[in-house]
Amino acid sequence: MTDEEFYRIHVYLKNRCGIDMSRKKEIIAGRLDNYIKIGGWNSYTEYMNDVTADFSGRLHNELVNILTTNHTYFMREFEHFQFLKEEVLPWLKKKEEEKKDLYIWCGASSTGEEPYTLAMVLKEFFGLEKSLWDTKVLATDISTEVLQHATEGIYTKEQISPLPEAWKRRFFRNLSDHEHVQVTKELKDEVIFRQFNLMDLFPFKHKMHVIFLRNVMIYFDAETKCQLVEKLYDALEPGGYLFIGRTETLDRSNVPFQLVQPSIFRK
Ligand SMILES: C[S@@+](CC[C@H](N)C(=O)[O-])C[C@H]1O[C@@H](n2cnc3c(N)ncnc32)[C@H](O)[C@@H]1O
Repeated sequence: MTDEEFYRIHVYLKNRCGIDMSRKKEIIAGRLDNYIKIGGWNSYTEYMNDVTADFSGRLHNELVNILTTNHTYFMREFEHFQFLKEEVLPWLKKKEEEKKDLYIWCGASSTGEEPYTLAMVLKEFFGLEKSLWDTKVLATDISTEVLQHATEGIYTKEQISPLPEAWKRRFFRNLSDHEHVQVTKELKDEVIFRQFNLMDLFPFKHKMHVIFLRNVMIYFDAETKCQLVEKLYDALEPGGYLFIGRTETLDRSNVPFQLVQPSIFRK
């Protein structure tokens, strides 16, 4: 990969997805080299010409699938789920007791562990009253590959090991290979997966009560992050909560978010 080719790819990625890989030449080459060889392209220039000319979006989606980092796991930063259950849901239950609609968005849902954990927390919190409430979790990601995985809802037993035994029994069924489990229909029905690029205008008809946007803004530069935080603020209901990754920080100079705890913010 020449420097010009690297420049073209990282600028493309930044412009289209907000992801800043301007100092990640080795990683980009490491992830794409094989794909380019198998695809029969003779150079990155040829490849990028095809990506930009492909109006079907297939090559673009494949590029995004390859270059995004999708690491996640069940109960990641579990203190957030505890806070949700102990502080946020009791408040929301009172506030929305007439309409019984909750709007919860998980904006970088990767392979599904995070939104399914949210759905399990909601199921547990509402208990028998759950059927009276509409608490579906909207889960979005830019990568079609992770969304496919999330929709299938198949994980190894090792992957679900951080979950309480009662949740494992209730929300997963064993598959015949004895190594994998699949999310039950009951839980799947609680999550709506959609492809969505955080750089786009937010298309939501309703303001959100809760937004989980964890461990994704680290891939964006400061200006992109700032613009996104403004959109997140607008997308929230007054009093609504934003959760970001526990190692992330937020520039609040443009938006009057109230800091509740490090990584938890309130409008
Ligand atoms: C490291 S994972 C974080 C997953 C989960 N939120 C967590 O904390 O465990 C980051 C996810 O952000 C997604 N992502 C990156 N850029 C995005 C964008 N512009 N719009 C939507 N999703 C994006 C990636 O595809 C990836 O699945």
